[in-house]
Amino acid sequence: MEPVNVAVIYYSATGSVHALAQAAAEGAQKAGATVRLRKVRELAPQQAIEANPAWARHIQDSADITEAAPEDLGWADAVLLGTPTRFGNPASQLRAFLETTGPLWAQGLLAGKVCSAFTASNTAHGGQESTILALSNTFYHWGGIIVPPGYTDPVQFKTGNPYGTSHVAALGAPGEDTLESARHQARRVVETAAALKAGRAAA
Ligand SMILES: Cc1cc2nc3c(=O)[nH]c(=O)nc-3n(C[C@H](O)[C@H](O)[C@H](O)COP(=O)(O)O)c2cc1C
Repeated sequence: MEPVNVAVIYYSATGSVHALAQAAAEGAQKAGATVRLRKVRELAPQQAIEANPAWARHIQDSADITEAAPEDLGWADAVLLGTPTRFGNPASQLRAFLETTGPLWAQGLLAGKVCSAFTASNTAHGGQESTILALSNTFYHWGGIIVPPGYTDPVQFKTGNPYGTSHVAALGAPGEDTLESARHQARRVVETAAALKAGRAAA
C-alpha cells in the first residue's frame, strides 16, 4: 500500500468528539497510515469553561494533545475533521482553525485530499447530518475528495449514519459500536487515499 499521511483534527468541549477522534486515529493507524491527532485551539472565555466542570476537566485531560496547525493539512493526504454540533453547525473553534487555511488553499495545497467528518450532538435529531454537510462545504472549496462511511461495513447498519460517525452525547460516552464506526470510517479514508496515491503515481 502507498504510505498515507492522515490528519485527524477535531474540537471537543466535554470529550465525546475527542473519543471519536482517538478511535479514528486508531483505525487509520491500524490501516497502515501515519497519523497526526490534533485538537484545535480553545477560544472560549475561561469563565465559560470554568462554569462547566466537564469542559474544564476535558481541557486538563487533553492537555498533552498537540494543537493543530495549517501545516498538518499541508502534510496530510487525508483529513478527518471532528466537531460537536452547535445549533446544527460545526463548533466555532473548528471553523476558526479552518479559516486560517486560506494561504494553503490559495496555493492549491488543499486540493485532492481525501476528506471525511464526524460529529456528536446531544440528541439524535439535533443536527448531526447538517453539521457534517456544513463541513463538506469547506471540503468542496478545498477541492477535496469526500469519502463518507456510507453503509460499507456491518457496523454502519447498527450506528446508522452514512454521512459520518455520529454520537448522541446524552447517552453518555461513545460505546463500542460508535467507536468501531469511527475506526471503519478512518480505515475507508486510508484505503481510498492509498488507492488514489497509487493511481497518481502510476499515471
Ligand atoms: C452552544 C451549543 C449549541 C449546541 N447545539 C446543539 C444542537 O444543535 N443539537 C444538539 O443535539 N446538541 C447541541 N449541543 C450539544 C453538543 O452538541 C454536545 O454537548 C456535544 O456534541 C458534546 O461533544 P463534546 O463532548 O465533544 O464536546 C450544543 C451545545 C452547545 C454548548
